[in-house]
Amino acid sequence: MKSAWASSRLIYSFCTHADLPAIAAMLAKPSVCEWLFFGPNPPEVTYAYFEPLIDGMAEARAKGAAPESYVFTVRTRPGRGSAGTAGTAANGREGAFVGQCALVADDFSEGAYLIGYQIDDTQWRKGYGTEMCRFLVWFAFAIAGAYRLNGDCAAGNLASVRIMEGCGFVREGLQRKFWHIRGNYHDRLLYGLLKDDLQAEQAPWQELFC
Ligand SMILES: CC(C)(COP(=O)(O)OP(=O)(O)OC[C@H]1O[C@@H](n2cnc3c(N)ncnc32)[C@H](O)[C@@H]1OP(=O)(O)O)[C@@H](O)C(=O)NCCC(=O)NCCS
Repeated sequence: MKSAWASSRLIYSFCTHADLPAIAAMLAKPSVCEWLFFGPNPPEVTYAYFEPLIDGMAEARAKGAAPESYVFTVRTRPGRGSAGTAGTAANGREGAFVGQCALVADDFSEGAYLIGYQIDDTQWRKGYGTEMCRFLVWFAFAIAGAYRLNGDCAAGNLASVRIMEGCGFVREGLQRKFWHIRGNYHDRLLYGLLKDDLQAEQAPWQELFC
């Protein structure tokens, strides 16, 4: 399995330890964590969460096996010249840091994954969140062999709602006052997407990523 995929604008590469400073800086920001059930995190908390996932991916890949969970660092794609291939850009880490996205395996249901994405606040409202969710959907069903994706968000996270619903996720439930964080209560929206749900018009997503 290769380690990086590209769209016309972004590079998605398997997360490595070298990416953690940028991810930790992002997750230390109150703006980024406004609708998250965690954070803002001191760096050591972010490192403690991501390091086992990164090591798990590396160990699986060293054995030629598929990782259990997939964590991607997302950067802008450098110019489409000689440095513009996915491999070169990912190895060189040349693009600007955008954020991270992940497919976290469900412990109790093989082939089901929880989606997650966080984008640095300097990169919001450029359509990257929508594209990252499309990438996760494409990767999960085309590469990882998923049959189901789970998604959730605080009910007030309107951008995340737009993203998941725009990608075809079906709203499956609402858990009232599910999160009590930073002094506020938040309802939790539950979403799901089955491979069987994918519509014909979503097939072109395959052509977005290589
Ligand atoms: C939520 C997040 C991923 C959105 O990313 P983004 O790149 O700004 O999203 P996009 O530009 O693709 O916009 C997606 C849609 O949400 C809308 N939107 C974006 N920000 C919005 C906001 N603050 N309020 C309302 N709608 C918003 C866009 O207009 C767009 O709507 P459309 O589909 O009707 O065109 C990003 O803000 C983020 O990472 N936030 C912090 C972490 C987080 O909340 N992650 C999700 C956890 S469930």
